[in-house]
Formats: sequence, structure tokens, C-alpha cells
Amino acid sequence: MKYRLLDLLQPISYTGHLHVIPKLVEKVSFADTLHNVKCDRYCAFKNCMIKPGAVSPTDCNECYTNEIIDGELEEESGKRYPIINGIPRIFSGEMSDFLEKNKATFSLEWKMFQFGQRNWGQDIEFRRQLFLKGMGVNKESLKNKLIVDAGCGSGLLSMSMADDFGMEVLALDLGTGIEKAYEHNTNPYVYFVQGSVLEPPIQDNVADFLYCAGVLIHLPDTKMGFQVLPRILKDAGRYFIWVYHPIDKQHHPDDLLKMKFYKWIRDNLTSPLPIKAQYMIYLTWTVLFVIKQKIFNIFAVTKDDRTWQEKMQDFVDMFSPIYQHRHTEEEVLAWYEELGFMNVDLSYQEKYGFGARGDKPEQVNASIPLASNTSSLKCG
Ligand SMILES: C[S@@+](CC[C@H](N)C(=O)[O-])C[C@H]1O[C@@H](n2cnc3c(N)ncnc32)[C@H](O)[C@@H]1O
Repeated sequence: MKYRLLDLLQPISYTGHLHVIPKLVEKVSFADTLHNVKCDRYCAFKNCMIKPGAVSPTDCNECYTNEIIDGELEEESGKRYPIINGIPRIFSGEMSDFLEKNKATFSLEWKMFQFGQRNWGQDIEFRRQLFLKGMGVNKESLKNKLIVDAGCGSGLLSMSMADDFGMEVLALDLGTGIEKAYEHNTNPYVYFVQGSVLEPPIQDNVADFLYCAGVLIHLPDTKMGFQVLPRILKDAGRYFIWVYHPIDKQHHPDDLLKMKFYKWIRDNLTSPLPIKAQYMIYLTWTVLFVIKQKIFNIFAVTKDDRTWQEKMQDFVDMFSPIYQHRHTEEEVLAWYEELGFMNVDLSYQEKYGFGARGDKPEQVNASIPLASNTSSLKCG
């Protein structure tokens, strides 16, 4: 974890701010040279509020050569959150049953993920292009912008946005897939945080972009989740989400039947089971898939070139989540309109779902509880 992250995080209680108690800090290389102070409010490296002249770019360059591997974050009330293996883990308290289950489900899914492989059959170049289409921007406009990747999953796209678009990325996820991502990451401007999108431990009005693909549909109430997140966006910041189509939108009759059958299996068989039992089921299906693939290959029947890990990941994604809500385009566009978002539009359509976006107006935060940063720490 970089000290820089502390300027972007806030306690879930939304009072005061977090300061770091480092226990193990490693020196890392930093190839860049910063010419401006990156933080706006709080310099965790010097443990002071940013005031004119208090922090210099030299401090920032020094800050980026330090990686906090183990330690704690403490809020002003004394409540602490651990930093384990470089990742802050920020939850308000005991996790609800549904969060625990979601965490287990998606952690299994990302455990199967091999870095460099495709996600949902899409390679990373395809995903980057889809991201640009989703946000309705070109690559050049993204440089140095802060994006929150809410429910970042494997973290591969988060890292790619930093590497290829020059963005600063705060990648938040409930599951442990981000641990693998953290180990692979070499970009100093990607910050991984373990936490929930339902209580994002992120400051108000910090993000230029908010990207939340395929996440809200796995919450108990998609719309409620949708409404929690925008407070972290700056005014005019852009908010993209991706959700599933309703099942009866599957165009081919075979798909419709298949999806109805899959839903029945998920609701009645797989999803209620403990995750270890599910693992055995998906493993068995994966073995059958591989056998079928090999036989079809011999007779040149199939073009399905998914690896067994990709297939297993697909099984987990389809059959394990407790919630897998589906929404119409009208419904989603209305959510944006209700919050007063501007330039609301559908970004793209896919077979299983669609993306939508809108820009945050100034008054949105008026209806959402804001954090107030009351600390008056002084430098030096
Ligand atoms: C289908 S994956 C999508 C991942 C990624 N956005 C992508 O497009 O590849 C859903 C992700 O949402 C995460 N997730 C589910 N519930 C969450 C929550 N309450 N808070 C944060 N992340 C959550 C899961 O851990 C999982 O990584």
C-alpha cells in the first residue's frame, strides 16, 4: 500500500480521517518523477494536512518509494483496520452472511484466474476497447485521471488502465482476487483495497471516473448499490455500470430455455451449497467439459478453445452467486435520471447484458450522507 492512498480513503464511519500505523515497510523503486504534489488534503507520508508549502513533490517522490506491507489504519475514534500483504482491508464490522458468501464465491472464481488469460472469453485489448466505448471517451482524455474500479475482480483491467491509459486507479473488491493482482502489479499508481461497494471507504468527490461492471447485480438490491457509489465522484465525473439483460431478452429460443434452466440450477442446487461442495461440483463439470472438448477436437467439431480454468471460472460465475439480478435498459436509465445525472446514455449492448453511463451533477451529494474531514493535523 502506498501512503498516497490515505488521501483517497476515509473511515466507513465517515468521521475524521484514517492515519497509518506501519509495521513493515519495504523500499521499492519508483521510475517516475512527480512535479506536483499528488495529494489534495492529507499527506500520510508526513502525517499532516496539506497546506501551502507543507508538502513538496520531493516528498511525493519519496512517498512512492515506500510500500507498506503490514500495518494498520486507525480512525480518530480508535477503530483500526488491518493492512495485510500490502492491501488495506476495510470493513465496518462483522460481515453479513450475504457478503461472506459473495466473498467466498468470487474469491473462488478469481482463484481459477490465470494472469494473462481472458476474462469472460475477452482478452485484455478487447476489454480496454470496451472500456473506452463504455465510458464514451478516447484514451488521450484519461491521462492522470483518477478512476475507481468498484468491484475490480481479477484487477487485470485496473492495472491495464493505469499502464495503457496513464490513469491512477483505486481498485476496490470484496474478494481475494486482488491479492493475486497486487502480486503481479508493477504500476505505482494502482491501489488495491479490500472492501465493499455498499460501504466504500473512499473520500467524497475524488474520482473522475467510476467503473462498476457486473457487480451491482450481485447485491441484494442493485438500485440501492447504484445509489451509494456516486458520492465518491467529482462533479461532472462519469459513472458507468454494466448489468445483465432480463432472461427473456435472450434472443434465440435455445438461449432463453438454457438461461431459465441455469437459473433454476443456481437457485435450487448450487448457490445454497457451501462453497467447498460447489467447488467439487464445478470441478466435476469441468472435467466433463475437457473430455468433451478433447473428443470434439479429434473430430474437428468444436471451436471452443477455453482452458479448463476459464471454463471453471465461467461455472462459478454463472452458478454460484446468491444474487444475479437482471434489469431492463429503461429501468437503469431511470436510476441515473432519478439522481439527476446528465448525458445519460446506453454505452453498448452485449448478448448477456449492457453498459450505461451518465455524468454527475453538482446537487447529487446533497441527498447522500457525506464525510467531513475534520482533522487539523499540522506538518512539522
Ligand atoms: C462478475 S465480477 C466482475 C469483475 C470486474 N468488474 C470485471 O468486469 O471483470 C463481480 C465482482 O464483484 C465483486 N463484488 C461482489 N460484491 C461486492 C461488494 N459488495 N463489494 C465489492 N465487490 C463486490 C466480486 O468480488 C467480483 O470480483
